[in-house]
Amino acid sequence: MQAILVFTLVLHVLSGVFWAGSTFTLARRGAGAESLVRPQLGAAAIAVVTGAALWQLVHSGSPGKTEYILLAGVVAALAAAGVQGLSRGNGQRLAAALLAITVTCMAAARYA
Ligand code: HEM
Repeated sequence: MQAILVFTLVLHVLSGVFWAGSTFTLARRGAGAESLVRPQLGAAAIAVVTGAALWQLVHSGSPGKTEYILLAGVVAALAAAGVQGLSRGNGQRLAAALLAITVTCMAAARYA
C-alpha cells in the first residue's frame, strides 16, 4: 500500500512538474509551442489520472480544509488543460497562470 502510494505520488509530481514547467517555458518563449503540445497534454493526462488515484487513496473521506485547497488546485489544473487542448498550444500564458495556482494549492494543502 505504502509502495503504491509513493509510486503514484512520484509519477504525479514528475508529470505535474513537466506539465507546469513546459507551460511556464512556452508562456515566456511564445513561438514553437506546437512541437510540445502532445507531450504536454500527455503529461497533463498522467497528472490528472495519478491525481485522481491519490485523491481516492488519501483524501476520499469527508472533506476538510486540505481537500478544499486541493480541489481549488484541481479546478485550476482542469481549466489549464481545457485552455491548452482547445487553443492547441496558443493559450500558454493563461494556462501558466492557472497552473501556478495549481502548484501553490498542491504544495500548501498538506499544511492547512
Ligand atoms: C487535475 C489535476 C490534479 C489532481 C486531481 C491532483 C491531485 C492531487 C492530490 C489528491 C494530492 C494529494 C496527495 C497526498 O495527500 O499525498 C496531490 C499532491 C500533489 N500534487 Fe497534484 N493534482 C493535480 C495536478 C497537479 C499538478 C499540475 C502539479 C504540478 C506540479 C501537482 C503537484 C502536486 C504535488 C507537488 C503534490 C504533493 C504535495 C505534498 O505531498 O505535500 N498536481 N495532487
